[in-house]
Amino acid sequence: ERHQQKNLDMQGKKVLISAGPTKEKVDPVRFFTNRSSGKMGFALAEAAAERGADVTLVAGPVSIETQHPAIKRIDVVTAQEMYDAMNEQFTDKDIVIKAAAVADFRPKEVHASKVKKQAGDDTIVMERTEDILQKLGERKENQFLVGFAAETDSPVAYGLEKRKKKNLDAIVVNDVSQEGSGFEGDTNMVSYINKTESVTELQQATKRQIAEQLLDCILQDMKDDSI
Ligand code: CTP
Ligand code: CA
Repeated sequence: ERHQQKNLDMQGKKVLISAGPTKEKVDPVRFFTNRSSGKMGFALAEAAAERGADVTLVAGPVSIETQHPAIKRIDVVTAQEMYDAMNEQFTDKDIVIKAAAVADFRPKEVHASKVKKQAGDDTIVMERTEDILQKLGERKENQFLVGFAAETDSPVAYGLEKRKKKNLDAIVVNDVSQEGSGFEGDTNMVSYINKTESVTELQQATKRQIAEQLLDCILQDMKDDSI
């Protein structure tokens, strides 16, 4: 019987990952949210933990469980809570991956009781949430910072732009208009774009396989950076 050698190439690395959607309350029975199952972020967390990393996972409201003992999970609900958790966890990390689908806007007013319908009452006033990734990009020191972008049109063009704007080391773009890519499914199809703007297209595969390949890309770029 042959024992498989365990790949521990992330031993000693501190990794911070955000996953899932955020949820912004209107009143006790209504909320705004983003479409995200959290599966991609959780797959990244599991893969990194199994490769020996020390993983902190900041998770929005999702229905999946984490298995690995090396994953420290912090549950949050709103974009503001996710911002606070990510900000606090950021400092001592080597790799930070923002796979979460954060709400860009929240209702300006959260009602304590259920809002009743009234004639002409057709508007909810919204305000912007903090752009978590942008803020982390601004205060980045030695962290290797990776963002995600789910797009329905020109994913690579938007990805290049977002990577630069948010001061990221890399961005993973996801064409969510394609079959077998993104959201609730178990497979994904993404491209990885690094600082040199080289685009690595990954073939459609399970989210776990994609996670392993993305970690390979990240480790490779970190090695090249340190030469
Ligand atoms: N992001 C974030 N905080 C926000 C909004 C987005 O940290 N308030 C992060 C996401 O987690 C993701 C990346 O920014 O890693 C890109 O998110 P995306 O929604 O694609 O980009 P936006 O900059 O919000 O632009 P838009 O929604 O207008 O396309
Ligand atoms: Ca957005």
